[in-house]
Amino acid sequence: MKIKNVPIKPSEITPEAVWLNRRKLIQGLGIASAGTALSSMALPAGWIEQKGFAAHETSLREEVTDEELVTTYNNFYEFGTDKEDPGKYAHEMNTDPWTISVEGLVAKPGKIGLEDLLSGIDIEERIYRLRCVEAWSAVIPWLGFPVKKVLDKFEPLGSAKYVAFSTHLNKSEMRGTRSFFSSIDFPYVEGLRLDEAYHDLAIFAIGMYGKELPNQNGAPIRLMVPWKYGFKSLKSIVRIELTDYEPPTTWNMSQPSEYGFYSNVNPNKDHPRWSQASERRLGAGFFGRRETLMFNGYSEVAGLYSDMDLMRQF
Ligand code: MTE
Repeated sequence: MKIKNVPIKPSEITPEAVWLNRRKLIQGLGIASAGTALSSMALPAGWIEQKGFAAHETSLREEVTDEELVTTYNNFYEFGTDKEDPGKYAHEMNTDPWTISVEGLVAKPGKIGLEDLLSGIDIEERIYRLRCVEAWSAVIPWLGFPVKKVLDKFEPLGSAKYVAFSTHLNKSEMRGTRSFFSSIDFPYVEGLRLDEAYHDLAIFAIGMYGKELPNQNGAPIRLMVPWKYGFKSLKSIVRIELTDYEPPTTWNMSQPSEYGFYSNVNPNKDHPRWSQASERRLGAGFFGRRETLMFNGYSEVAGLYSDMDLMRQF
């Protein structure tokens, strides 16, 4: 099937000058010692505000969704299946200290504390759409940096083809993981093809709305892949593994006929139980439905899939 290419209108890209007044001084924190460090430091309070961030040219000029909605209407099954559960219970998760292990097909595997992981990386504000498979969407000012900046520190081997991500699991802090009613297994896992992970639009987010991420949105670090359904963007990441095989993904393991590996936003490919042709912007009210765009509007990623049938490989 031929992919319908829906470009992001130039008017949607924020001119850099508009953001200059939000630009703050960026200070690198030195060179990371990936592969050897065994620190387990989390980020000190106010780290992002002190370090500062710059607006990125990929930012949309769409109205940003109300922060209150984005932090109270969530999917984070570790805390329950109701949209309100993460906002009510995610504060029970301890994010300090936080360590991430990077394993598999890399030259320098290792465990690294979050602050060390971020050293030498500039933080950017990127206003991205998040489009959930349940057909709601939001426009969120994320603070983050390209996934590739982290992967490069660990030096992927030539044999690496995929990146597998895995999340924090602590049953005593995460009441949803103790429930009989959850439809998925934990820890929540996801994966990307290596070239997807290396695309400049794919970021790790550590903050939003100018501050550190709240727990319910995936503190202290989550994935944000704006051209894929929200479920691909897993929260509270603790493990990254480079592989030469397609890694298992949570929703595919739970319901293979409904959720594939790729999970690209595709208005032409209906979910078996509902249409994906339109979406409801959070907070936009009854008339807030809008057309869903191929790749969520991020048409610059189309080349990653030019030789694939996206109706079959969904
Ligand atoms: N990450 C973890 N660890 N657990 C989850 O249940 N849900 C996913 C994704 N990341 C989920 C997760 C789904 S289904 C969506 S739509 C997005 O998070 C929602 O992100 P938000 O709550 O920040 O809007």
